[in-house]
Amino acid sequence: MTRTTGGSETPLQPAAPARVNDYDGFAEAFSEETENNLLNAYHARPAVLALAGDVTGRRILDAGCGSGALSADLRDRGAVVTGIDSSAGMLALARQRLGDDADLHVGDLGERLPFEDGAFDDVVASLVLHYLEDWGPTLAEMHRVLRPGGRLIASVQHPFVDYAIQNPRPDYFATTGYTDEWTFNGRSYPVTFWRRPLHAMTDAFTAAGFRLVTLSEPQPDPAARELFPKDFHHLSTKMSFLFFVVEVPEPRQP
Ligand SMILES: C[S@@+](CC[C@H](N)C(=O)[O-])C[C@H]1O[C@@H](n2cnc3c(N)ncnc32)[C@H](O)[C@@H]1O
Repeated sequence: MTRTTGGSETPLQPAAPARVNDYDGFAEAFSEETENNLLNAYHARPAVLALAGDVTGRRILDAGCGSGALSADLRDRGAVVTGIDSSAGMLALARQRLGDDADLHVGDLGERLPFEDGAFDDVVASLVLHYLEDWGPTLAEMHRVLRPGGRLIASVQHPFVDYAIQNPRPDYFATTGYTDEWTFNGRSYPVTFWRRPLHAMTDAFTAAGFRLVTLSEPQPDPAARELFPKDFHHLSTKMSFLFFVVEVPEPRQP
């Protein structure tokens, strides 16, 4: 995947001819690219797994599960995993990986989730919230489907990277969309992200009823040092993603 910051401040420019955020269109290439790469395989996914800790027997919703790499890791560690993603193409790959009996749903995280109240011990949302302009309805739904004491473990593009490195914006405090161009197999795909200041993220979690437990900027997996020496140095000295653990508070004892 080649990334160039196209960068249009809101209002967003219509992106022709390819569809914006066409994960179906580049599902296979994206999945292949992120399977063993430094950023996802040796940083984003291990960081979520480390924050999750022992997941044996935990019912986990993988929100924006993509082709299911994180779901597979969680399942290997003993979790009972359900996946949801808006891309049927990504879910088809997840099904190939996880098997026909995997509990996978096509669904938009901006809408009501097709699960009962309190159905999960954890929700993981790896690198997906930054596709959403308004986190309010999504976090409210994640809160609803978690049991009291349940955790949401989320990773997003680091807001300071979005501000300072990727297409610097004039107003750090505004929530703005920008469009990146991803290139797979010589074809360019527009991908739109929403960036917001750090406090807007923590405010959104608390407004949805979560308690902030951990805010983390972890190092990449040391095993990658030899595999990707140059990029490892870059990633271990520069910001990339930001990780949160937030919790549904237990009801107070009388
Ligand atoms: C960068 S990939 C991350 C995949 C996986 N969570 C991981 O960490 O490897 C983002 C995923 O979010 C999904 N996605 C984007 N917007 C979504 C939305 N509104 N509702 C559900 N899924 C969405 C995409 O289809 C894609 O599979």
